[in-house]
Amino acid sequence: MSSTATAVRGPLVWFRGDPFLAGREETFVHESDGLLICQDGLITAAGDHAALRHLIPPGTEVVHYPDHVITAGFVDTHVHYVQTGIIAAFGSQLIDWLNHYTFVEEQRFSDAAYARTVASSFCDELLRNGTTTALTFCAVYPDSVDALFEEATRRDMRMAGGKVLMDRNAPEPLLDTARSGYDDSKALLERWHGKGRNLYAITPRFAPTSTPEQLEAAGALWREHPDALVHTHVSENTGEISWVRSLFPDRAGYLDVYDHYGLLGHRAVLAHGVHLTRRERDRCAETGTAISHCPTSNLFLGSGLFHVHDAKDGRHPIHVGLGTDIGAGTSFSLLATMNEAYKVAELCNYPLDSVKAFFLATLGGARALGIDHQVGSLEAGHEADFVVLDPRATPLLAQRTSRVGDIEELLFVLAVMGDDRTVRATYVNGALAHDRDAAPGPSTA
Ligand code: GUN
Ligand code: ZN
Repeated sequence: MSSTATAVRGPLVWFRGDPFLAGREETFVHESDGLLICQDGLITAAGDHAALRHLIPPGTEVVHYPDHVITAGFVDTHVHYVQTGIIAAFGSQLIDWLNHYTFVEEQRFSDAAYARTVASSFCDELLRNGTTTALTFCAVYPDSVDALFEEATRRDMRMAGGKVLMDRNAPEPLLDTARSGYDDSKALLERWHGKGRNLYAITPRFAPTSTPEQLEAAGALWREHPDALVHTHVSENTGEISWVRSLFPDRAGYLDVYDHYGLLGHRAVLAHGVHLTRRERDRCAETGTAISHCPTSNLFLGSGLFHVHDAKDGRHPIHVGLGTDIGAGTSFSLLATMNEAYKVAELCNYPLDSVKAFFLATLGGARALGIDHQVGSLEAGHEADFVVLDPRATPLLAQRTSRVGDIEELLFVLAVMGDDRTVRATYVNGALAHDRDAAPGPSTA
């Protein structure tokens, strides 16, 4: 943890509430000349520079980012670090894609050295994209979980993840058993959950790859450790949904499988949810279960269009965050993910504005993971994870952003045109963790 103070000046943007449910004035904060003061990894003050400058600890150098936009570090609510190597695998929908590409690649993680290399580049790639927290699937192998948390710890990131549970319908080398999956998950949870900034997620892959016994054991483990997360997939693809019905004929539907085994609730994050019924969405709302909206993946695999406005319906709103879903997703960038979320919403006749999109990528994601008291906001008391966006990152972006009329339009252009080049700097726990313009280190070749 940083023991020195950090002070950063520039335009600030963050959220105090959910703009899907309340007005801009109550939920959205914009300081055109803001100041952020951080001490020992926490934000101690955020607001107008002129009003707060007297709080800057003596001797602290103020880093000034004029004409940038500083916001909370992005939260990726669904990603598979073990699929980093298979982004852009051609030509299949979900089940074929899993069999042809994913299950082949994930077997490589039986090699702990390979896991370490990928975990390291994964964490670097998150930071290059302004993502300071991710909820990630690991492989079935416990070493792949150690590799992730060790690399995240080296970078001081708030990271959530877990070992995949799979005891059927996958290649034999990837299978655990209900007993070994429970034992391994429990040992990993006890080793990593709450250690430093790490959080453990109990991670059944999806209903088709777990027996009822394994789902029962996963539910039991969550009851023993209710402050851990649960992370899985739901209702992504219509063929997958039919398969779940045939595997679990006694259950009312896909969501009811997880409900039956005690896997819904606050801090349970279900990826996709594209085809959830209204009744299932209501059940998510009732139980506090969150959905990770993964637009680049849903388009890439031809899974369908997630209706974000139905999920945030005022009568039964669900916690929703954005997920890149690498490697079915096609970009690590939450800006690129907002761009696709906007287009998907347009196809559903819903204008997803920039304020709502940035909420989903920051505080909305933190709420989905149940850590909004810690990350996802620049409000004093939060952990000092933030990102500095550059509206002039490319000539075209500079041309376009020079014409914007207000902060909402600027955020919209950043969301639609932005990518990793737009991330000028990423701060983690109060310290600079990625500087786009830093001189490259010495070549090791
Ligand atoms: N459903 C079960 N496993 C996966 C996976 O690895 N990726 C996606 N997109 N969906 C899944
Ligand atoms: Zn996924």
